[in-house]
Amino acid sequence: MSDTPQIQPAHAQIAHAQLDWDEQGQPRSRAYDDVYFSTTSGLAETRYVFLANNDLPARFAALPSGGRLVIGETGFGTGLNFLCAWQLFEQTAPAGAQLHFVSVEKYPLSRADLQRALLLWPELEAFASELLTQYVALHAGFQRLLFAGGRVVLTLLIGDALEMLPELDARVDAWFLDGFAPAKNPDMWTPELFAQLARLSTADTTLGTFTSTGYVRRALNDAGFRMRRVPGLGHKWEVLKGRFTAESRATAKPWFARPDFAAPERTALVIGAGLAGCASAASLAARGWQVQLLERHAELAQEASGNPQGVLYLKLSAHGTTLSRLIVSGFGHTRRLLERLQRGIDWDACGVLQLAFDAKEAERQAQLANAFANDLLQNLSQNEAQARAGIGLPAGGLYYPEAGWVHPPALCRLLATQPNIRPLFHQEALELRRAGELWQAWAGDRLLASAAVVVLAGAAEIRRFPQSAGLPLKRIRGQITRLVETAESAALRTVVCAEGYVAPARLGEHSLGASFDFKSDDLTPNAAEHVGNLELLREISADLAQRLHAEQLDPAELAGRAAFRCTSPDYLPIVGPLADSAAFANAYAVLGKDARQTPDTPCPWLAGLYINSGHGSRGLITAPLSGELLAAWIDNEPLPVPRDVAEACHPNRFALRNLIRNT
Ligand SMILES: Cc1cc2nc3c(=O)[nH]c(=O)nc-3n(C[C@H](O)[C@H](O)[C@H](O)COP(=O)(O)OP(=O)(O)OC[C@H]3O[C@@H](n4cnc5c(N)ncnc54)[C@H](O)[C@@H]3O)c2cc1C
Ligand SMILES: C[S@@+](CC[C@H](N)C(=O)[O-])C[C@H]1O[C@@H](n2cnc3c(N)ncnc32)[C@H](O)[C@@H]1O
Repeated sequence: MSDTPQIQPAHAQIAHAQLDWDEQGQPRSRAYDDVYFSTTSGLAETRYVFLANNDLPARFAALPSGGRLVIGETGFGTGLNFLCAWQLFEQTAPAGAQLHFVSVEKYPLSRADLQRALLLWPELEAFASELLTQYVALHAGFQRLLFAGGRVVLTLLIGDALEMLPELDARVDAWFLDGFAPAKNPDMWTPELFAQLARLSTADTTLGTFTSTGYVRRALNDAGFRMRRVPGLGHKWEVLKGRFTAESRATAKPWFARPDFAAPERTALVIGAGLAGCASAASLAARGWQVQLLERHAELAQEASGNPQGVLYLKLSAHGTTLSRLIVSGFGHTRRLLERLQRGIDWDACGVLQLAFDAKEAERQAQLANAFANDLLQNLSQNEAQARAGIGLPAGGLYYPEAGWVHPPALCRLLATQPNIRPLFHQEALELRRAGELWQAWAGDRLLASAAVVVLAGAAEIRRFPQSAGLPLKRIRGQITRLVETAESAALRTVVCAEGYVAPARLGEHSLGASFDFKSDDLTPNAAEHVGNLELLREISADLAQRLHAEQLDPAELAGRAAFRCTSPDYLPIVGPLADSAAFANAYAVLGKDARQTPDTPCPWLAGLYINSGHGSRGLITAPLSGELLAAWIDNEPLPVPRDVAEACHPNRFALRNLIRNT
């Protein structure tokens, strides 16, 4: 037995709801002994208590194109309220408007239970089936789901409301309070929770709930909501509705605050068409931005994002670090996007096995297996691992059943193929200039494009622009080896990783990777690194090496591909608005003397200039969600990750650390 303490952070473990079903096929929570919705008039009650009492029919209809409404909910349950709000939004909101729905849920329904519950509402079938398709890879923490081409955005906060809401950065326009009856679940109706609702509210925020319990009304009033009793529906005599009237809230430190930036037009120029650029373009286009996607090559995904197969590799921490939480959220988001691609050609959910190749790794894996839920990862013995993988292995390991491999160019194409995105190939931006309220990209004396917003997504190449030259990005050359599938290697059924990785064949070839070279600038594949990759293969499985006839392969004849990863010193991506570095150092110089100060000087932002880079070895997991994070910064929306994760990815973190280190 190890003497390492068992680490079981609350954020990582989730349990599914335990349900009983009555004679009408309606679900009931076993733990709370309560119903999910009115058993006599579920739809009518939702429409009245939550939609009408928040005045949503009129508010949706009044949204301008490019406008949005943010709904916050306590208790996602079966998603009935979400689906009804979405249906009403489709019926009443203008094209070009967006619905954001943020809901917190401690015990998500299993997919099978959700499917069974939603069968109760045939008129919501079209919406319910989209929800069910995307109801995968939902794990503890923030999970973003996109519907209707990104016009409807759902952010599920999976965990206890009192732990999750403090992490949320959003301005909510309408609240649905729906966390079981106060008598059965007092935890969802506390002053602490209402203080969080108040923190997230503005002067126009409204609130509706099915309860009329006196202490709930009084506590909401105390939190700053002016609550009134109004007639209820059916057997409910009265319900509550209200409006936030108090002054709200503390703001973020100025260097992590939301830039006070209103684009003169909704045009964006994204520089770089790899995963980061395509994801940024997709998230902006879904919000009605007209995007030009500038790329120096003839096509998308020609550099790091151009490998035939990349792995959804989750390097997690049992300690709930910011990186680990970003990975769980990013994995879920990418995994849901992949549902829109063709299995077997574009990706495969074949599972990923991480071998416990030494005692230290085995110890780490044991901690992870304790900390995370079984549907995310499982500890397998050597025999179990071999049975899963279909080949002989030197050890057991951690198995991620929902992970697999991806053909990154297919994901780039999925993201970038949209009416609002215009790719401009063979265009290399050499210089950025400010012209009035717009940014311009130039190559010598040639103007390539201009727009109100520029997103720098050119991996480490962004250092060429003086505006982003100070960001500490490093290039690391990596090479993969392509191995022709053999009759014997076809037995491989999952991705297997140790120091390297090997994937089941795509179109008759396995990808084997990948080397790390911090010095070389030469992208011609070389035999020495093929030799190194074959060594990685033998460490993964001598059996597979034999099945691939590795001993007979001539490294000089092997096919492969090399590209640069782009890595930041803390291995987190760099995503968000850029500040003027000299003015920043000046404005916050006092931190060099006393790091606890928070000067109220506004951050000297470079208005309209943003970055999405530094995705290192895990761009498949971090880049798509970073597109959503970037769009949230630009459009002042709910962040798709906890506030501290967004700050940990913020471009200003380096300048801030530099100032503070001088103390
Ligand atoms: C060998 C190798 C193996 C990898 N394996 C995995 C894996 O298994 N799983 C995983 O998740 N990740 C993996 N990665 C990492 C992953 O590929 C990257 O994190 C991801 O592709 C980064 O995407 P990006 O868009 O930031 O960069 P890139 O894909 O490099 O895209 C940047 C683009 O910007 C363009 N550009 C740059 N400057 C300009 C300019 N001034 N004007 C116009 N265009 C410009 C470039 O031409 C390029 O197309 C691997 C990387 C390598 C190298
Ligand atoms: C009445 S149901 C919600 C019904 C839901 N809005 C619908 O449309 O189906 C209440 C939900 O609150 C969740 N819940 C209860 N306590 C919670 C807590 N402390 N934090 C987060 N969610 C909680 C329950 O798991 C349950 O799904």
